[in-house]
Amino acid sequence: MTVVNTATLTAPDEMYQALRAKLSDVVPDVELRIKSELAAEINRLKREKNAVILGHNYMEPALFHSIPDYTGDSLELSRRAARTEADIIVFCGVRFMAETAKILNPSKTVLLPARKAGCSLAASITAADVRQLKERFPGVPVVTYVNTYAEVKAESDICCTSSNAVAVVESLKTDHVIFLPDEYLAQNVAHETGKHIIFPTRQPASAYAELDYQLIGWRGRCEVHEKFTVEDIRNVRAQFPDVAILAHPECSPAVVAASDFSGSTTAMIKYVERTQAPRYLLLTECSMGDNITAANPDKEMLRLCSVRCPHMNEITLEDTLEALRLNRYVIEVAEPIRSRAARAVERMIAISAKD
Ligand code: 13P
Ligand code: SF4
Repeated sequence: MTVVNTATLTAPDEMYQALRAKLSDVVPDVELRIKSELAAEINRLKREKNAVILGHNYMEPALFHSIPDYTGDSLELSRRAARTEADIIVFCGVRFMAETAKILNPSKTVLLPARKAGCSLAASITAADVRQLKERFPGVPVVTYVNTYAEVKAESDICCTSSNAVAVVESLKTDHVIFLPDEYLAQNVAHETGKHIIFPTRQPASAYAELDYQLIGWRGRCEVHEKFTVEDIRNVRAQFPDVAILAHPECSPAVVAASDFSGSTTAMIKYVERTQAPRYLLLTECSMGDNITAANPDKEMLRLCSVRCPHMNEITLEDTLEALRLNRYVIEVAEPIRSRAARAVERMIAISAKD
């Protein structure tokens, strides 16, 4: 079989044939025709402007399978952003991801196709919150999930993603670590590393002196992953006892414990590719199920799909075309916040370089 690199196709009909081969079970034909024209024009403009398109695993299927030069989880896309030669980076993902690309590439133009495309985790914490925590727990290193804005990264010692959070925490070799802002990811990391976690209220650190704790968390949540419950898992297993259940580590510890595997979006894709379960259920953003099905037609995916991330959903082929045509929306990160945030992101990339 010849694998077509759709990211280079500029003829609408060729694009349509390539997308139809992958997505005819997922996307109506009439929509495929329209999207093929948009995608082909995006690829033409991309070449003309020496742009690269990075696409997160949560992009809708027609976009995911047509225009990105690289797809992946947050860590893979950060690494790609760190070593691109293109003049323009178009980030088909959410704002914190595009910001990370800009932090790593201050001289390049970084475009986010939608003005909003936020994230409930990134919105859950401010730089002032981090400064307060640092004052209350002096000398304790701060790890922030990349799902945060640049001002928060700038207050951090090192960043992490869902695929390297445990490695990053263990690399610090300190008695205590502040881990922000995802409550569930922090609890899952605590469980995996055998550490105890507290979620401090307004009291000073001395109020916790009697407690045995190593991680200090924050109560941010992903509005998508917090919705999955153990009851969902029980119901699905009752109907399909042979299902393999995969949960993103932004799900609650109880949901992760009741699942068969937990990992980043790319780790979940790789798990499906390398295993042979009769059927799979993904507890994550629902476009990813369609993307995996399209790439692995021999695998059966169950749907528990009331949850589409509203922020990822903002990114469309139409808006990506306008972004390239009009050079919008340009992501800026002011100094010295950018260089301070870059230290934290680069330190994370250095730790994960050999993964
Ligand atoms: P990944 O790093 O696993 O792709 O996760 C990003 C994200 O936003 C999950 O909700
Ligand atoms: Fe943020 Fe959750 Fe959407 Fe990921 S799925 S971008 S963590 S709101």
